[in-house]
Amino acid sequence: MKIVELDSVSKSYGNERALDKISLGIEQGERIVILGPSGCGKTTIMRLVAGFIPPDSGIVSIAGKIVSRDGKIIVPPRKRGVGMVFQDLALWPHMSVKANIEFGLKAKGFGKPERQKMIRDMLELVGMLEYMDRKPAELSGGQQQRIALARALVLEPKVLLMDEPLSSLDLDLNIRLRKEIIRLHDKLGFTMLYVTHDRDEATDIATRIITMKQGRIDLS
Ligand SMILES: Nc1ncnc2c1ncn2[C@@H]1O[C@H](COP(=O)(O)OP(=O)(O)OP(=O)(O)O)[C@@H](O)[C@H]1O
Ligand SMILES: [Mg+2]
Repeated sequence: MKIVELDSVSKSYGNERALDKISLGIEQGERIVILGPSGCGKTTIMRLVAGFIPPDSGIVSIAGKIVSRDGKIIVPPRKRGVGMVFQDLALWPHMSVKANIEFGLKAKGFGKPERQKMIRDMLELVGMLEYMDRKPAELSGGQQQRIALARALVLEPKVLLMDEPLSSLDLDLNIRLRKEIIRLHDKLGFTMLYVTHDRDEATDIATRIITMKQGRIDLS
């Protein structure tokens, strides 16, 4: 069974075709990187998998269950088991690191002692335990992305979507966090769909690279 499957998915914005009959299957545990130039449809694929937008036509499935099809969202984002780290999906600025991570755990109904333990374990895993009580503005860019990663992973997503998560960081830090992400992936075993337009970053991160061009998968 594929953990994520797109079957002939198309999506237009007005009369602009962002995705043209994309078909793509992702196996459990893969690290898929979608690589392609600005405007080729990478973020649109992420939004479709997350469930923020429906496809105009085609089917999106997660873990064998149809979650969207032909203009309809069948399973809403919060019920998809999908975690997200997007460049523009920032931490909540008014909340501490701890509260940022705790939010989703509360929503899922975990009790307080359980939440405390999960938060500590996850912060330890990303090397940020001592920053628990800071606000996002008191952290560096790389530290903020570690917390964003922790916030997503603590909910044990089936699939983790990462859209240019490192592109705002300088190259040294970018390269260090690539290694960090791979380490977490190896340890926790989630399935990853990662977007970048940087070929080196793609090569480092991916177990499989998918190249896109103008709304299509580029097989050339
Ligand atoms: N909300 C929207 N309304 C109208 N057009 C949109 C919208 N979102 C995306 N598009 C268009 O759809 C196409 C694909 O956009 P998308 O954001 O998926 O590209 P991308 O590959 O993620 O690009 P980038 O690397 O710049 O982030 C682009 O031509 C874009 O202008
Ligand atoms: Mg994008």
